[in-house]
Amino acid sequence: MRTNRSLSSITAALLLLVASVLTSCSDLKTTLPPATSNNLQVHDDNWDNNAASASFHGAYLKSIGWQTSECKTCHGSTYTGGTSGKSCFKCHASYPHVSGFSTGTTHGTYLYNLNYPLSSCQTCHGTAYAGGTIANVTCMRSGCHVDATNTPRSPESCNTCHGDFTAAASNFLASAPPKSVTGATATSVRGVGAHQKHLATNAMGVAVKCQECHAVPAQVSSAGHLGTLPAEVVFNDKLAPLPTGSGTLVPKPSYDPSTLKCNNTYCHGNWRVRKATSTSQFAYSDSLMVGLNYSPAWTNGSADATCGSCHGLPPKGHIAVPLSTCGSCHFGIVSTDGKIIDKTKHINGKINVFDQEYSF
Ligand code: HEC
Ligand code: HEC
Ligand code: HEC
Ligand code: HEC
Ligand code: HEC
Ligand code: HEC
Ligand code: HEC
Repeated sequence: MRTNRSLSSITAALLLLVASVLTSCSDLKTTLPPATSNNLQVHDDNWDNNAASASFHGAYLKSIGWQTSECKTCHGSTYTGGTSGKSCFKCHASYPHVSGFSTGTTHGTYLYNLNYPLSSCQTCHGTAYAGGTIANVTCMRSGCHVDATNTPRSPESCNTCHGDFTAAASNFLASAPPKSVTGATATSVRGVGAHQKHLATNAMGVAVKCQECHAVPAQVSSAGHLGTLPAEVVFNDKLAPLPTGSGTLVPKPSYDPSTLKCNNTYCHGNWRVRKATSTSQFAYSDSLMVGLNYSPAWTNGSADATCGSCHGLPPKGHIAVPLSTCGSCHFGIVSTDGKIIDKTKHINGKINVFDQEYSF
C-alpha cells in the first residue's frame, strides 16, 4: 500500500529519540502520540482528501483490483477501525462490502433493511448504475441485473425488488409477485397471494390491472411507494363504485390487512338489482336479486372463487333454473355444462342478458 514516503525515516528518528531519552528520563514516553492519533501520519495527504489524485485511497485500491485485504492490518478485519481507530464505514456506509455482498439476497436484504438508500450506491456505481467514475463496477453485467436474454435492466426496474427478476422490460405484469419483496413465491404468503390469478384472464373473467388494487408508483422514488410492509391496497376499480342505477348500491370495497380479506367488492358479489325498476320482472322470485357479497381471503387460493361463491346459481331472488339453462337467456356467457365462455361479459360491471348489455 501507499504510505508516506517519509514514514520510515520519521519512525527511525522517533525510535532513536525515544531510545536516547529513555536512558535519561523514563517519563517522557507518556507524551508520545497514541497509535490512533492523527499526529502519526501513515498515509500521504492526498490519500483521504483528494479524490482527484492518483494517490487517493480509492484510486489506489482501483489500481490493485479492489484488494482491500491489505487495509485490514490496521483498519481491522471488519474494517471498523482496528489499531488505526479509523473505520471505513464512517465515510461510506456500505463499503467495503461484506463477504457475499454480490449475491442478490445479501445486498438485497441490506438495502431492504435500510429502506433502499440507492443514491448511496450511485455515488460509486454511477447514476445509471452502469459503473461510475469512482468505482467502474456496473450492476448490469451478465448474471446480475439482466433479463433472461442478457439485456441490461436497471436495479430501479419494477421487477427488481418484487416480481420476476429475469422478465423482459416489456412485461410490466411481471413486476407483481411472485416473488414477494422478501423473496417468497408460495401463494399462501400474503405478499404473493392471488396476484397471478387476477393478472391473467382466468376461469371467471378477464385480467384485473394493478391500479385496480394499488396506487401504482410511476417510479421507484414515487411518494408512498417504498415504505414498511404490508403493502397498501387501494381499490380504484371503475367497476366497484357502481353507477347509482336501479340497484342504488355503491359497493365501497375495502381490504383488511389483519384478516387478508377483501370486503364489499363488486366483483365478489356486492351488487343488487330491483324488480320494481326492471324491464324483466318475470326473472324475479323476490323484490331484489342479490349477490352473496363474499369476502375472499387473499391467500386462500381458488377455494375462495368457486362458481357459486360470489352469487348463487342462480342468484338469490332469481327464478329457479338449472345451471345448464343459464346460457339460454344469458346468451353466450355460460355453456350448457356451466362454464363461463365469454369472459369479457362476465364480471364486467353490466347486466348481460338476451344479447343486451345494461347498467345495474
Ligand atoms: C474520511 C472518509 C473516508 C474513509 C474513512 C474511507 N474512505 Fe474510502 N472514500 C472516501 C471518499 C470521499 C470517496 C470518494 C467517493 C465518495 O464520494 O463516496 C471514497 C471512495 C472509496 C473507494 C472508491 C474507489 C475510488 O476510486 O474512489 C474505495 C474502494 C474506498 N473508498 C475504500 C475505502 C476503504 C477500504 C476504507 C477503509 C480502510 C475507506 N475507503 C475509508 C472517503 C473515505
Ligand atoms: C500500517 C497501518 C495502516 C494500513 C495498512 C492502512 N491504514 Fe489507513 N490509516 C492508518 C492510520 C494510523 C490512519 C490515521 C492517520 C492517517 O490518516 O494517516 C489511517 C487513516 C486512513 C484514512 C483516513 C481516515 C479518516 O477518518 O480520516 C483512510 C481513508 C484510510 N486510512 C484508508 C486506508 C486504505 C483504503 C487502506 C488499504 C489500502 C489503508 N488505509 C491501510 C493506518 C493504516
Ligand atoms: C465507496 C464506493 C462504493 C459504494 C458506496 C458502493 N459500492 Fe458496491 N462496489 C464497489 C467496488 C469498488 C466494488 C468492486 C469490489 C468489491 O466487490 O468489493 C463493488 C462491488 C459491488 C457488488 C459486487 C459486484 C460484482 O461484480 O461482484 C455489488 C452487488 C455492489 N457493489 C452493490 C452495491 C450496493 C447495493 C451499494 C449501495 C448500498 C454499493 N454497492 C455501494 C464500490 C462501492
Ligand atoms: C386484485 C387486487 C390486486 C391486484 C390486481 C394487484 N395486487 Fe398487489 N397486492 C394485493 C394484495 C391484497 C396484496 C397484499 C397486501 C398485504 O400483504 O396485506 C398485494 C401486495 C403487493 C405487493 C407487496 C408484496 C409483498 O412482498 O408483500 C406488491 C409489490 C404488489 N402487490 C405489486 C403489484 C403489482 C406490480 C401489480 C400489477 C402488476 C399488482 N400488485 C396487482 C392486491 C392486488
Ligand atoms: C428498490 C426496490 C423496488 C423497486 C425497484 C420497485 N419497488 Fe415496488 N415495492 C417495493 C417495496 C419494498 C414495496 C412494499 C413496501 C410498501 O408497501 O410500502 C413495494 C410495493 C409496491 C406496490 C404495492 C403498493 C405499495 O406501494 O405498497 C406496487 C404496486 C409496486 N411496488 C409497484 C412498483 C413499480 C410499478 C415499480 C417500478 C416503477 C416498482 N414497484 C419498483 C420495492 C421496490
Ligand atoms: C329464463 C331466462 C333466464 C335464465 C334461464 C337465467 N336467467 Fe339470470 N337473469 C335473467 C334476466 C332477464 C335477468 C335480468 C334482470 C333485470 O335486468 O332486472 C337475470 C339476472 C341475472 C343476474 C343478475 C344481473 C346480471 O345479469 O348480472 C345473475 C347473476 C343471473 N341472472 C345469473 C343467472 C344464472 C347463474 C343462471 C343459470 C343458473 C341464470 N341467470 C339463468 C334471465 C334468466
Ligand atoms: C369472482 C366472483 C364470481 C364468480 C366466481 C362467478 N361469478 Fe357470475 N357474476 C359475478 C358478478 C360480479 C356478476 C354481475 C354481472 C357482471 O359484472 O358481469 C356475475 C353475473 C353472472 C351472470 C349473469 C350474466 C352477466 O354477466 O351479467 C351469470 C349467468 C353468471 N354470473 C354465471 C356464473 C357462473 C356459471 C359461474 C361459475 C362458472 C360464475 N358466474 C362465477 C361474479 C362471479
